[in-house]
Amino acid sequence: MDAAAWDTRYAASGLIWTAEPNRWVTEVLAGRPPGTAVDLACGEGRNAIWLAERGWAVTGVDFSAAALDKASVLAHQRGVRVDWQLADLADWRTRQPVDLVLLAYLQVSEQLRRPVHRAAAQALETGGTLLVIGHDSTNLTHGVGGPQDPAVLFAPDDVLADVDGLGLTVARAERVHRPVEGRPHPAIDVLVELRRPA
Ligand SMILES: C[S@@+](CC[C@H](N)C(=O)[O-])C[C@H]1O[C@@H](n2cnc3c(N)ncnc32)[C@H](O)[C@@H]1O
Repeated sequence: MDAAAWDTRYAASGLIWTAEPNRWVTEVLAGRPPGTAVDLACGEGRNAIWLAERGWAVTGVDFSAAALDKASVLAHQRGVRVDWQLADLADWRTRQPVDLVLLAYLQVSEQLRRPVHRAAAQALETGGTLLVIGHDSTNLTHGVGGPQDPAVLFAPDDVLADVDGLGLTVARAERVHRPVEGRPHPAIDVLVELRRPA
């Protein structure tokens, strides 16, 4: 989907996702000392705002102006400041290294996913964390919800291959099960946490 298609999707009144942070974001990052962070493909900003509420200096990046408009309103309602940046991740490079890069549910083909993961890895400050969360390839057959196009799904090992040679260490690289309300089976997500060693 291009930016115009995402804008159309976000044009619906109300949030198309939720104001609550993703469960893996809270599980992995709650209690971490705040620093600088960038949330790539931030959408309506739920995760960036949750980080800002915990003292992080956050930049949220997305190529949908409609998404960032909603994110900005939500941040204002919650009384936090986030630097919202309209940018295509195909061209995005960090202005300065950050302590945390978050990528949650970016749904793009491998041709774009790999350079985005590499740019995200290269944006890390020494000691920084890259957290990648996504819809796992097996979600199509064994999970629920999420995109139905196999080309935009991936596996933990794909993320590790994407950043191969960039010197990151692996804290976690696994499939995790996310309960979905009203559904008998959980969704299957990718959860990869990488660090730039000190
Ligand atoms: C499924 S939403 C996830 C939003 C958010 N990370 C969350 O977890 O709530 C995917 C987001 O990726 C954004 N996106 C997709 N391709 C992009 C690109 N090439 N550059 C910037 N943003 C992109 C879309 O606009 C959309 O907001």
